[in-house]
Amino acid sequence: MASDQFVYRIRGGEPVVGHLTALGAKNFATKAMVAALLADTPTQLLNCPPIGDVVITHSMLEAIGAKIHADGTTLTIDPTDITSSQVPIPDSGSNRIPILLLGALLHRFDEVAVPVVGGCRIGERPVDFHLMAIEHFGGTVTTTKEGYVARRRGRLRGTQIRLPYPSVGATETCLFLGVMAEGRSLIANAAIEPEIIELITLLRSMGAVIFTSAGREIVIEGVPQLLGTRMPILGDRIEAASWACLAGASDGDITVSGIDPNHLGNFLAHFQQVGGGFELLEPRKVRFFRRRALTPTVVETDVYPGFSTDWQQPFAIMLTQAHGISIIHETVYENRFGYLKALNELGANTQLTTHCLGGLACRFSNQNHEHSAIIVGPTPLTSDETMITIPDLRAGLAYIIAAAIARGTSYIRGIHLLERGYGDVVPRLAQMNLHIERVLR
Ligand code: EPU
Repeated sequence: MASDQFVYRIRGGEPVVGHLTALGAKNFATKAMVAALLADTPTQLLNCPPIGDVVITHSMLEAIGAKIHADGTTLTIDPTDITSSQVPIPDSGSNRIPILLLGALLHRFDEVAVPVVGGCRIGERPVDFHLMAIEHFGGTVTTTKEGYVARRRGRLRGTQIRLPYPSVGATETCLFLGVMAEGRSLIANAAIEPEIIELITLLRSMGAVIFTSAGREIVIEGVPQLLGTRMPILGDRIEAASWACLAGASDGDITVSGIDPNHLGNFLAHFQQVGGGFELLEPRKVRFFRRRALTPTVVETDVYPGFSTDWQQPFAIMLTQAHGISIIHETVYENRFGYLKALNELGANTQLTTHCLGGLACRFSNQNHEHSAIIVGPTPLTSDETMITIPDLRAGLAYIIAAAIARGTSYIRGIHLLERGYGDVVPRLAQMNLHIERVLR
């Protein structure tokens, strides 16, 4: 049965206590699947998460002729029989991956067509940097009603490109284009998120020659051929931060395995500043809890190593329990507070403004985007069978945290959005002491 026929029923109000394992990172697993297409031999990816975005990417790769064998969480991707360069949208819908396929497949074919890009509606999310990159490397791109068609004559050529903003996706496109382009490429103002560094490691293990430096610069010496490799997908740092916020918000105690605490970077600083605590138990095992009564803060989202935009939603739920006025300034996406309205229905006291609060003016200043949030706490959350509808993937997990701390029973619908990025949510949470079920609506 399709996941849009189900809702989550959560009875909350108790501290959430227990242990769970973070799954493989969505925002690396799907990129690693695309990277596999650059090779002439199969690639094996371990610890792939059972999530909708992997399923969507799987369908797109199979549709162009890649052979994929799944054995538990291990995917073996054999690109040797790829015959088509026309990527269709699978029945399960689109995600952000088509635009990355454009660059990755352009070494193999002299014309590649991909459908329009999907993903969460959290802002305009243009793809202009990707298209600009393809042109820098010597290709051309036509935008059609259905999507994008990229063409090249001869081999792609190494280039120098400065991204207007350190975009994760555009950096990935540049990497895919540069690894097999002729000669040297320089990508300036590149993204350096842990998933990007992991992608660079994956590409290096396929034979790519990529140098990083202390600034946001990546230098690539193009090679004529890449070979398949084997790599585990790193644990999801977004998921791990969400479980930390669940512990902090519910005054619980949650141990998360499978995560490198280094990847949580500044999250750990912000978490501690508001009263959260953590303990490093084993190399990839971190315990999160509340150290004292929560206090308010000012947070600004930013590219890595800043506070990730994907952490702000669970963190906001925790701030509803802090004593005082907190501010979140979202500087990565112009429209990522769609979830606050429903939160107010559960008793939170939040307000949005178009001003850049709490920091420097960002790219969205003097426009009409409500991209700063004021959260007044503490507000006990309560739910009398309230139904809340998920607006986007990360907001989905934030709603689970809100429902977990709200006294009473809540229903969450639109869970197909959440399940695009989080796997086995119900069994993993239910084996702690949270009353959560996936029921027919
Ligand atoms: N941007 C442009 N033009 C472009 C590309 C990006 O203007 O051609 C702008 C975007 O509109 C946005 C900013 O640059 O304002 C950053 O976008 P970026 O390209 O970095 O984002 P992305 O690659 O589309 C990935 C993750 C997001 C995560 C961001 C930022 C994937 C599939 N998605 O998106 O994750 O928020 O990087 O870290 O990797 C999520 O997982 O829920 C999610 C949205």
